[in-house]
Amino acid sequence: DERFAFVVVSNRLPVDRVVAEDGSASWKQSPGGLVTALEPVMRQTEGAWVGWIGQPEIILEPFTHSGLRIVPLALSADEVEHFYEGFSNDTIWPLYHDVIVPATYHREWWDSYVAVNQRFADQAAAVADIGATVWVHDYQLQLVPRMLRLARPDLVIGFFNHIPFPAYGLYSQLPWRTQIIEGLLGADVVGLQRVSDAGNFSRAVRRLLGYTTRSPYIEVPRTDDLPARRVIARAFPISIDVEAFEELARSPAVQARADQIRAELGNPKTVMLGVDRLDYTKGIGHRLKAFSELLDEGRLNVADVTLVQVASPSRERVETYKHLRDEIELTVGRINGDFGTIGHQAVNYLHHGFPREEMAALYLASDVMLVTALRDGMNLVAKEYVAARHDEDGVLVLSEFAGAADELRSSLRINPHDIDGLKDAIMQAVDMPRAERRKRMRALRKRVRENDVGHWSRSFLRALSDASGGIDRLG
Ligand code: G6P
Repeated sequence: DERFAFVVVSNRLPVDRVVAEDGSASWKQSPGGLVTALEPVMRQTEGAWVGWIGQPEIILEPFTHSGLRIVPLALSADEVEHFYEGFSNDTIWPLYHDVIVPATYHREWWDSYVAVNQRFADQAAAVADIGATVWVHDYQLQLVPRMLRLARPDLVIGFFNHIPFPAYGLYSQLPWRTQIIEGLLGADVVGLQRVSDAGNFSRAVRRLLGYTTRSPYIEVPRTDDLPARRVIARAFPISIDVEAFEELARSPAVQARADQIRAELGNPKTVMLGVDRLDYTKGIGHRLKAFSELLDEGRLNVADVTLVQVASPSRERVETYKHLRDEIELTVGRINGDFGTIGHQAVNYLHHGFPREEMAALYLASDVMLVTALRDGMNLVAKEYVAARHDEDGVLVLSEFAGAADELRSSLRINPHDIDGLKDAIMQAVDMPRAERRKRMRALRKRVRENDVGHWSRSFLRALSDASGGIDRLG
């Protein structure tokens, strides 16, 4: 029985099991920001990663994948439907993203969420050494910290929420609002992306439980099952492995590929880029609307400009995601039908994920990066774009509703609901003189370099070790 001094617990593992048509199984990198950020952190430790491999009904023994110790947790088909697609992605996800689409409340989804969280807690408890540090991640596992503390009072427990935490007026809709807050307060440190998320969380604690908070501290009084404790709740804005991404973008193969991409696009004057999971939080429709109006008004010309939109498949069995896909693909088809010419497509739409190398090349090939999220915990695509631009060129248009906007102040910050404002920002980006592009990109790169993912994880783990008695258990 293997035991680890450091254990990460998240719903998604860094690798997904994919089954080909002939039935053979292989591994591919999982989608999303959580894995992008955590993978380099885990590579620095001897720890284990507990999580789900992305396929129902597959039971696997712990294994090692490119140096990482993986402890897979099986989900049944029923749990995928109720815990993952239901409660996680059709209740919590829309509620925590300010109900861009309505949140659905089902009691059997909640029951499944409780049961699966208990299994994650049991699995973590089974592999954590005495006094180990266990770091639990994201909205799918909010009950795990308390469950783990009840089972293993010796552990140091951290929790980090990768998505926003909503204002109390929204959060209070949740029928299980008290249980979730109590679940999170099982951690020694609750980390959130933005200062405003931390404020929302503390406010919910005060309103629902009446506990005293003095930022960043929350005084949790003694209960029947747990002693009194002081919990820290504060912002730790997440990031990427900046150096590694920049190095990738500097490699001759990636630079050559960037030139090739521009050539394949017909060497237009301006290449614009959007990169998102196909998710309604990302504001892809708002971006397309602004772009098509600019073409329609003749402020942009299809001979000079093309928009590359990477929309990687996500949560495809959830109804709102199916609708979104139909809506986006209809809109793209219309724009191309209305404005495309033979040889010039207005929107280059790609419904698949790409390896990091290809992403780095796309960032280098793009003059304007459009991040128009309606709500986003951080948005690591914005940080990847900046890290890739070692040539100090390219303009980042960034929604103020993405966590990244708190740091990336030299971007062109926009409100994606304000279509006219977004159009003006796109034109400002297209027309921006080289000197201003360089000045802004330099400032952005300085910011991104100062807070890379190593800085993020070190600050979190330092806060965790301070909170739990000052023993730096990771050395
Ligand atoms: C976001 C979430 C992650 C999630 C990822 C991909 O980044 O914060 O927890 O893993 O999206 O979504 P998926 O449902 O495919 O895991």
